[in-house]
Amino acid sequence: MSDSETLIAAARAAREHAQARYSGFKVGAALELPDGRVISGCNIENATYGLTLCAERVALVKALSEGHTAFARIAVVADTEAPTPPCGPCRQLLWEYCGDIDVIMANLKGPTASHRLGELLPMPFDARLLK
Ligand code: THU
Repeated sequence: MSDSETLIAAARAAREHAQARYSGFKVGAALELPDGRVISGCNIENATYGLTLCAERVALVKALSEGHTAFARIAVVADTEAPTPPCGPCRQLLWEYCGDIDVIMANLKGPTASHRLGELLPMPFDARLLK
């Protein structure tokens, strides 16, 4: 198993816990720390729809709430042929807390795409602009 396959496997396993009864679209994410540890998340939906939490954000808030502040990569897994990239709000939060990390997308068979977060969120608004 290659390095990224291990991270993808963690995202795939997290996807099994997705609470996606409204969309039926299950997503798993796995955020890798610099020391190789992995914090995972899945999407959590609810009856108001709008309070949905994406898998990426669940993984990020779990990691931050456990005191982790540096991140290396994130893997995102959905059961689709096309890559499933993080949504706009997740890109913003990942950028602010993780910086220009690698974003690895995969489906149930294997990797589908890989991009730096800076490619997915060009010209970001962040704390540097609040000075
Ligand atoms: N979703 C994620 O969890 N991550 C993504 O990158 C794309 C979308 C979730 C939100 C919602 O529960 C479902 O997928 C359909 O949009």
